[in-house]
Amino acid sequence: MKDSAPVGIDALAFAGPAGFVDLAELARARDTDPAKFTKGLGQHRMAIAGPCEDTVTMAVEAGAEALRTFAVDPDEIGTLIVGTETGVDHSKPVAVYAHELLGLSERCRTFETKHACYGAMAGLTASMDWIASGRARGRKALVIASDIASYGLGTPGEPTQGAGAVAMVVSDQPRLLEIRPSSIGDYTRQVMDFWRPLYSKHALADGHYSIECYLDALSGARMDAVGDRGDLLQQLSACLYHVPFVKMAFKAHQRELEMELGRTIRRSEAQEWAQLTESYEHLCAPWLKLNAEIGNIYTGSLFLSLIDLLRQAGKQLAGRDISLFSYGSGCGATYCLGQIGTEVGAWQTVIDPSESLASRRRLSIPEYEALVRAAEKADRTERLNPADFGLSGGLYYTGTRNDRRHYERG
Ligand code: CAA
Repeated sequence: MKDSAPVGIDALAFAGPAGFVDLAELARARDTDPAKFTKGLGQHRMAIAGPCEDTVTMAVEAGAEALRTFAVDPDEIGTLIVGTETGVDHSKPVAVYAHELLGLSERCRTFETKHACYGAMAGLTASMDWIASGRARGRKALVIASDIASYGLGTPGEPTQGAGAVAMVVSDQPRLLEIRPSSIGDYTRQVMDFWRPLYSKHALADGHYSIECYLDALSGARMDAVGDRGDLLQQLSACLYHVPFVKMAFKAHQRELEMELGRTIRRSEAQEWAQLTESYEHLCAPWLKLNAEIGNIYTGSLFLSLIDLLRQAGKQLAGRDISLFSYGSGCGATYCLGQIGTEVGAWQTVIDPSESLASRRRLSIPEYEALVRAAEKADRTERLNPADFGLSGGLYYTGTRNDRRHYERG
């Protein structure tokens, strides 16, 4: 089927917390071989949000950066969607705080989407539909993925935590990535692989089962998107996946290649294993560096990989086709194809978050544990001083007074 008009991602920006934990250090503190976290899971660091950094502050920092660097006037935004599983209120959406703090127009539809790590892809496709329907009337959508991945101290999920936000402007003149609506495939199945009860700050996961659910969803969504094509990977320049931890992208790529070959690939079969690792090194591994440095950011993790690709190889891959796969536990998934913008090289440097990542503070394990405990109580703390947590120069949550959350620049 032919797509009528272009639509896709016009601007991108990342924002995350000021502190990180080194995973080799965490492994030693947990009496675990560091290679399990660094090689077995593929992670090096994880971003840690303190009590003054929440889904709203990260969403606003990322949103403001996307609008500023890509010179998008806030008045051009007619839809604002925040995808998150880390809402700050059972009723009031993160998006409406972000709407005010970003100075968007009152003529703007604003809401939050929740489906574990799938919320931002749901927001992206909904805003593409909004544009294609004609309702946008030339305006753009701002879709922000913002999350804090938290499993609790000493749990199996602990080394797969992280925090951060990715903001995307969606328009009918996408400078970065055109997404083909006719290539979008979906999958939904009710499973208990990962969830977070209303009473808990930390997610619960049936970890190994969640990996199976992810791979089943990939098979289902890809089949819906492109059928049983056996020649897709050779036509793509990159395959981007939801990345709860880097090794998951390898497992996902193995599943895709197995679908194309129509058989299971075993490590004992040297030739096929070599084909898999070569394909992974070419299509996936180069774009997982930011994920390895930041950790799981849930809804934003696929789009963090997209930033990684564009910042490193935008110019070289201009005009080329790539695939994207988003998975949200519970579960829902989307697979789609996109084409990198022909002028993307001009934006390669401005979307690179390396400088801000280099200024992050390395937290000792006792500091990290103290931050996690303070963050657990933050919703009920009246006054929080960002300076007490070594923070300055950003937007911060400063406590809940009279049952109302307060945000201030400091
Ligand atoms: N040296 C090198 N590698 C080692 C090692 C060592 N000393 N020790 C173990 N490993 C390897 C293992 O072989 C394994 O690799 P393979 O999967 O390739 O076999 C890897 O390290 C992990 O080891 P385990 O499976 O033993 O680790 P675990 O049982 O402690 O937990 C986990 C792993 C299940 C992913 C856990 O971290 C977890 O529950 N994470 C949260 C859930 C999650 O991320 N699920 C992903 C799919 S769901 C999703 O994607 C949504 C989402 O964002 C949450």
